[in-house]
Amino acid sequence: MKVLKVVSNVALLMVLVFSLVACAAPATPAPAAAPAEKKEFTYNTMTMCYPQLGAESDWRTANTASFKETAGELGVRLIFSDAQQKQENQISAMRACIAQGVNIIALPPVVEDGWDAVLKEAKDAGIPVIIVDRSVKADKSLYAAHIGSNMVQEGEKAGNEMNKLLPDGGKIIELSGTTGSGAATGRAEGFRKTLNKNIEILDSQTGNFTRAEGKPVMEAFLKKYGADIKGAFIHNDDMAIGAIEAMKAAGLKPGDIKVVSVDGTRGGFQAMVDGWIQADVECNPLLGPQTMELALNILNGKPFEAETLTKEEVYYPDKAAELLPSRKY
Ligand code: AHR
Repeated sequence: MKVLKVVSNVALLMVLVFSLVACAAPATPAPAAAPAEKKEFTYNTMTMCYPQLGAESDWRTANTASFKETAGELGVRLIFSDAQQKQENQISAMRACIAQGVNIIALPPVVEDGWDAVLKEAKDAGIPVIIVDRSVKADKSLYAAHIGSNMVQEGEKAGNEMNKLLPDGGKIIELSGTTGSGAATGRAEGFRKTLNKNIEILDSQTGNFTRAEGKPVMEAFLKKYGADIKGAFIHNDDMAIGAIEAMKAAGLKPGDIKVVSVDGTRGGFQAMVDGWIQADVECNPLLGPQTMELALNILNGKPFEAETLTKEEVYYPDKAAELLPSRKY
């Protein structure tokens, strides 16, 4: 019994000594974790996803070429797809890019609404998104930056041109771009904001930014409103070219309907030379170089502009022939 007590006292003493030693000993610093090596991106190591919205217009063709050519010149790996003007295709393409672990996504959104979920998926995966060309209606925290045109301002410029072309007022029609797109919504808003009160918009229909759809819409307008139509605000040159075909078929002459168009493509310039378009508001599709530079700055944590708006002009028939050969799209 006595032996047992001695043993337990010794054990107690040892515990006490050990805990005292433990308290007194300075904490051994944990081996410092090696600082995570920060990966500096170059164009050659950057993979950019570009889920293009479609191939609906000459503007779009030039935009695609700008991205592909710039990527080729700089050595950027570009994952390109064509969504054929369908938002669901763009979303699927984005998800495929996220799954592949691309470094950055540049998204030209076909419409403004409905991007929150996929933008959040990209953000959660640590992939920054640059919105290109048209705008999105999504929380700004879900994407890094926007680069493109001020569509409202384009509409305002178009309104000013229509005011100059119809100083005594008159009735006009509007051939609008893709319903729900930032380009169509912004241009319509700016146009109405600026248009003189003596100019009445008889009707507005979408031609989805294509020649093929622009023509029948104009045919229907001509059938319905005939000679009442004094002016036409057409949201892009492709639809204007389709509409001009309808005007020619209806026996109209250049200038019978004053046309204000948008884009400033070679086709639009040719229509100005031929007298069918009276003013063309430029929308610049050559966004590849600026977008890739922006992407590199974002990826490398360098300062960058959250909003980059392209500088654009308005063109008129008087200079169209001279400028046409130097137009890049
Ligand atoms: O978003 C830009 C617009 O889209 C261009 O004006 C039009 O031509 C294109 O389809």
